[in-house]
Amino acid sequence: MTKEIRICMGSACFARGNDKNAEIIEKYISENNLDAKVELYGARCANICEKGPNFYINDECTNDLKKVMEYLEGLKNE
Ligand code: FES
Repeated sequence: MTKEIRICMGSACFARGNDKNAEIIEKYISENNLDAKVELYGARCANICEKGPNFYINDECTNDLKKVMEYLEGLKNE
């Protein structure tokens, strides 16, 4: 199964930092040659804006950028 990270690009999450977070995640994937291991997508608002900025690691929703980065770091050794 392809691994995927989705970043909510709805206006609330975007305003709460996902504009910058998307750049950070994209840069990390590129710099660590993870492009073949993980797909990065933008996601639509899931109406949980108050919890945002939201991400999805595969189907798991989180608002913790650190968790996303740790997941990506783990993929380096797979
Ligand atoms: S904008 Fe991200 S959940 Fe609504």
